[in-house]
Amino acid sequence: MKLRAVAQWLDDRIGLAGLRHVAEKKTVPVHRHTPWYYLGGMTLFFFIIQVMTGILLMLYYRPSAQEAYESVQFILTQVSFGWLIRSIHSWSANLMIAAALAHLFTVLFLKAYRPPRELTWMTGFALLILAMGFGFSGYLLPWNKLAYFATRVGTDIAAQVPFIGSFMRRFLRGGDYVTGSTLSRFYGWHVAILPALSTFLLLLHLILVQRHGMSVPPSVEKEGPTRTMRFMPDFLLRDLFGWTLALAALAALAALYPWELGEKADPFASAPANIRPEWYFMAMFQALKFVPGGEILGLENEAILILGFGAIGTLAFLLPFLDRGVVKHGKSPVFTILGALALAFFVGMTAIGYKAWWPVGVAVVVAGSGWIAGRGMSAKRAAER
Ligand code: HEM
Repeated sequence: MKLRAVAQWLDDRIGLAGLRHVAEKKTVPVHRHTPWYYLGGMTLFFFIIQVMTGILLMLYYRPSAQEAYESVQFILTQVSFGWLIRSIHSWSANLMIAAALAHLFTVLFLKAYRPPRELTWMTGFALLILAMGFGFSGYLLPWNKLAYFATRVGTDIAAQVPFIGSFMRRFLRGGDYVTGSTLSRFYGWHVAILPALSTFLLLLHLILVQRHGMSVPPSVEKEGPTRTMRFMPDFLLRDLFGWTLALAALAALAALYPWELGEKADPFASAPANIRPEWYFMAMFQALKFVPGGEILGLENEAILILGFGAIGTLAFLLPFLDRGVVKHGKSPVFTILGALALAFFVGMTAIGYKAWWPVGVAVVVAGSGWIAGRGMSAKRAAER
């Protein structure tokens, strides 16, 4: 009774009923590809975990070359459950990027970027780039050996960009070398600039999703009217069920495989043999390793590849405006093939980078189960008709 009175009090002041009305009216299409709709929500779940655990870590972390490593050691050994919070933050960062990538590729293959969802695609793409920025800046914060040298290599790669490369390296490092100034700078990006930009873009992304509703893939649209389910409570409860499973997986990973700290960074030590970036940069890192030395038209081969990645990223950002076929005929096999090639490149290069074929195995199993589930749903629908 009291709760209802409070709800009424709030409703009188901020109009909660309006929000409830919107949520009650919202529906979600039900078809063989519906399970992919949960990936965006899953990414959101990991983002929320990142914000909560990140704020807790900030209470003890100190962003200076003298104290960063020791403050993380303090979190791991002295702060109650500090090790768990740090492990959850690190695992969840990786799972968030994995979920965002999976979300991107499903949105791509289901052609959900068609008008009027161009801006939903573009804000989502920008969010993924920001998430990678979170990963790159966060990697250095514990100020350990591997992160220190990986940041040196990563910022050296930025320096290869023609004309503006050395400015970019200095801008990223806050000087000519990776030092305490780089750490302060990365901290600023990690806890202020990137969160502010991401929150703004995320709100925009979610408002756009709410405004346009969930898209029905062209292949399903052709089959006639699509069934729908209510967002509240049917879809939301399924979303929450997925979040519970994700939380269980995250807790198990964080507790059973706590994130390591390694040795403190020593700028004068020799670089370790196993310098490697985070897994989501591995494909680009590995491709750069394959490039033979030499230059074309005065540009180094590596610089050409880096420019190539930049060009592909820009085209992918603008994809909704390039794929006109899907607007006219509801089909665009060329873009589906390009998407599949990009995915194969990403998985293949990552596998080579780790000298392991398990990423290929995981990708095949996920794609295979998605395909089988899709077939099953369409057979069920056909039987119901
Ligand atoms: C931090 C990253 C992201 C979060 C938290 C997020 C969140 C969401 C949520 C909750 C939805 C509604 C449910 C769903 O379709 O799964 C959605 C839809 C959508 N997202 Fe994202 N997203 C992110 C990144 C991306 C990326 C990287 C792209 C692609 C470049 C993207 C493009 C879209 C599109 C086009 C839709 C509409 C789908 C449809 O109508 O069928 N998003 N997003």
